[in-house]
Amino acid sequence: MDGAELVGVQKTLTPVLKAKALDNRLPDPILGDRYAERVMRRLDPGYDRGRGATQLGLVAVIRSLAHDTWARSFLAAHPDAVVLHLGCGLDARVHRIDPPATVDWFDLDYPAVIELRKQLLPSREHYVQLGTSVTDLAWLDRIPRERPVLLIAEGLVPYLTEADVRRLLTTVVEAFPSGQLQFDTVPVWAWRTSRWDPTLRRYDAQFHCGFDDPAALAQWHPRLEFVDEAPMYDAALVKAKAPATVRRVYRLLTLLPGLKRSTRIVRFRFPPRRSSDAPAS
Ligand SMILES: C[S@@+](CC[C@H](N)C(=O)[O-])C[C@H]1O[C@@H](n2cnc3c(N)ncnc32)[C@H](O)[C@@H]1O
Repeated sequence: MDGAELVGVQKTLTPVLKAKALDNRLPDPILGDRYAERVMRRLDPGYDRGRGATQLGLVAVIRSLAHDTWARSFLAAHPDAVVLHLGCGLDARVHRIDPPATVDWFDLDYPAVIELRKQLLPSREHYVQLGTSVTDLAWLDRIPRERPVLLIAEGLVPYLTEADVRRLLTTVVEAFPSGQLQFDTVPVWAWRTSRWDPTLRRYDAQFHCGFDDPAALAQWHPRLEFVDEAPMYDAALVKAKAPATVRRVYRLLTLLPGLKRSTRIVRFRFPPRRSSDAPAS
């Protein structure tokens, strides 16, 4: 693609995209993302051939479906929402969900990723793509703030430091009247061992934070409430939809309790402000 060379953590978008593309080739896909298949084919025409073509990234597909389901239900209840989709990579969530025109949707990622997105994915009304680090909070000045917010960060939080995640979440809670925050985290052991993770090493990327009890992040702000967690290993879904070879591998993986909880998908909300609320120090 023209002029968009991805480096380091930006490259971690590829295995997730590939997982979604391969899912779409199943007779009965879990996510059914035709954009992922189209984009992956343009990036790597042979992506679905050879050893790398097994759908072992199924957890990424299940994670995506969980985020889509939560996002759809929030937007059904708040058709006037503003969506902040942080670390969007080449994910086509805005097209999958296809929100009504009353929703304003912002996709954010590093400039090189956004440049590539613009070459590979369609644009649409009420949709803006911002090329910036999500930790440089100047981007918030470009967002309308008087409406409910939906913040989605899929596969992003572990790449940020805890201090940056805290500043990001509490600033968003302060900036909007009400909203929902949904993201996924890894446990402390996965963060501490990430420098030896072969996939991350390949992309020259590392995790910078981990949480053993992500629900406790609600303590970062008095208005923040933990809502629930989505299952990362949806056994019924895998059994119903994944090919037999993949089902066998997943059965083995789920026997390892640490791996089963290696990613946590969590949802928080914050209700309209009361005059006594202030951030926790
Ligand atoms: C594992 S990929 C996930 C992509 C997408 N959310 C998905 O699920 O397909 C991580 C993404 O986070 C982005 N990212 C990491 N740190 C970031 C930062 N500080 N600012 C903006 N994007 C960031 C990377 O560029 C990459 O696109």
